[in-house]
Amino acid sequence: MVTAEIKDKTNNDIITETDFEIGLIYAKTKDNLIGIDNHLPWSFNKEDMEDFKKITDGNVVIMGLNTFNSLTKPLRNRINIIVSKSNYYKLRNPETIEEHQITLFDKPLLKDLTYEDNVYYTEELNENILGFSKYFGSSVYLIGGKRIYDDGFKYCNIIYETTITDNLLDPNTYKDPVLHYYNVDLKKLPKKENHIWKMINLYTLNTCIKATYKMVQFNND
Ligand SMILES: NC(=O)c1ccc[n+]([C@@H]2O[C@H](COP(=O)([O-])OP(=O)(O)OC[C@H]3O[C@@H](n4cnc5c(N)ncnc54)[C@H](OP(=O)(O)O)[C@@H]3O)[C@@H](O)[C@H]2O)c1
Repeated sequence: MVTAEIKDKTNNDIITETDFEIGLIYAKTKDNLIGIDNHLPWSFNKEDMEDFKKITDGNVVIMGLNTFNSLTKPLRNRINIIVSKSNYYKLRNPETIEEHQITLFDKPLLKDLTYEDNVYYTEELNENILGFSKYFGSSVYLIGGKRIYDDGFKYCNIIYETTITDNLLDPNTYKDPVLHYYNVDLKKLPKKENHIWKMINLYTLNTCIKATYKMVQFNND
């Protein structure tokens, strides 16, 4: 059983238990760069893409509108939830998702997107993501971009971090690029009595370094 500790709007603690991972998954350069304008700062990384697919396959992925727009199509075999205030489809309350689904069947959400694409919209990123996990019966992964990571890390119980070392793009070759930086700050992650965040797994592939941070039970002995 993994647990996620979150606070409600009045700053009271809510401890919600879930069998599933609520994960944040991201890749960065050694300098913590995660994006240039609206794309990744490397040309392609097959090993990382395969890992990403393995972890997220069959689960829910949540992304911001910019990240969604940077994809050529919704991610296959995953429920894609897009967070956007300007182009949202309200899923305010997980208990009412059923009603929305009926509407979704009848009505494409945006041009070219239909329910069959497994795409949903939500107006904000909040503790409902724990409800998505329960409703869809799967883990939920925050897959970017920068704003989603900044707003969503507090709901996570696991973090998958990759440091990409190959095929990096040089930001200096861009005219006035918008550079996005992110790296997990263990000090800022939600704490729970007798639990600590710990790096539990670190391995290297040819082109990247992988780390997994998890909230684990702290043992005083
Ligand atoms: N390296 C990686 O692992 C990785 C992964 C994914 C993306 N990226 C990179 O990250 C960069 C994009 O980051 P970004 O911050 O610009 O984009 P983003 O988080 O993908 O999207 C931002 C937009 O999503 C909506 N949004 C995000 N968080 C929200 C919230 N809490 N509440 C309501 N709406 C929210 C807003 O849309 P509205 O304005 O419509 O309300 C906002 O303008 C790109 O360079 C991309 O390539 C990197």
